[in-house]
Amino acid sequence: MRVLGIETSCDETAAAVVRDGRIIESNVVASQADLHRRFGGVVPELASRKHIERLLPVIDDALEQAGVALRDLDAVAVTYGPGLVGALAVGVAAAKSLALSLDLPLIGVNHLEGHIYAAFLTAPDLPFPALALVVSGAHTDLVGMPDHGQYHVLGRTRDDAAGEAFDKIARAMGLGYPGGPEIDRLARVGDPRAVPLPAPMAFRRSSGRADDSLEFSFSGLKTAALRTLHAAAAGDGQFKANLAAGVQRVVVDVLVAKTMRAARSLGVKTVIVVGGVAANTLLRAEGARACAAAGYRLVVPPPPLCTDNAAMIAAAGYYRFSRGYRSDLGLGAYSDLPLEPTPNDSSP
Ligand code: KG4
Ligand code: ZN
Repeated sequence: MRVLGIETSCDETAAAVVRDGRIIESNVVASQADLHRRFGGVVPELASRKHIERLLPVIDDALEQAGVALRDLDAVAVTYGPGLVGALAVGVAAAKSLALSLDLPLIGVNHLEGHIYAAFLTAPDLPFPALALVVSGAHTDLVGMPDHGQYHVLGRTRDDAAGEAFDKIARAMGLGYPGGPEIDRLARVGDPRAVPLPAPMAFRRSSGRADDSLEFSFSGLKTAALRTLHAAAAGDGQFKANLAAGVQRVVVDVLVAKTMRAARSLGVKTVIVVGGVAANTLLRAEGARACAAAGYRLVVPPPPLCTDNAAMIAAAGYYRFSRGYRSDLGLGAYSDLPLEPTPNDSSP
């Protein structure tokens, strides 16, 4: 079964052709990072307009690179939330038109479910139960997954997402957008212990004992990093490298510690780490070390499948289709969308 995936939830215009939820025939991503860089973050109206310009050429590229025509498709899967509603609407409208004109099933996919299914492109037969850490520019969610399509959100961030904290701190440091990859690069030449920073929600403030909640909070770290930055001598390159290394260390420590705690409490076999921040070098290394020590299988997709792409949407769409889900042509676009249950779903 050949699924066309479409993703326009934020600032990447993406289309992909995936067979049977596991074979990537093409995966085209047109990033708008250059457009938004000078504003230091995504400007929603500009993102929507760029999606309108680029989506059809990107779909054409995806078909051409896969060596297929529209008539070779068996279904169209599209991200319909969560994300920027105007940006999502472009992908949803295109997917509905294709489904209607080609008489193909339409499958709405939750963006977070898409991120999780990047893991099944990497390891289609990973053993359940699994735990997924979805860590991106908008989310820091720990999700228990007893089987395909079953999700229990165990914890999430109370304020900033991990990627958002990286982006905001990087911006204040005068680094490029998006900030996560810049911090990753700069951290390599920094000393992670040189700048004192708070460990976010790793310890209970009252007792000093380990915090056993599965919630995250990164805004305190962000504030501390910004305060340290403003107090420091401007233009000190080594200080910036140390700060980047320190921020990365603190974020990765808390992500890994809480993921391991959740994995233990669920008794999982597999730990999945996905979303843009899963491209982070230190998170990948520390995740591998912790999972090896605890005996969990770790699945972290290669970086291009961690950041936003449409292959993950096509894969998630394939599995949704296999479970009997179809979306009707009333499919909307939603800035907020829970993993389950989802609106506009119908089972035949
Ligand atoms: O999943 P994604 O592409 O878009 C969202 O759904 O948000 O994630 C983007 C986030 C951005 O905050 C970006 O700074 C972060 O992922 N990111 C990284 C790295 N690559 C991307 N963060 C840390 N290290 C990286 N190498
Ligand atoms: Zn994403």
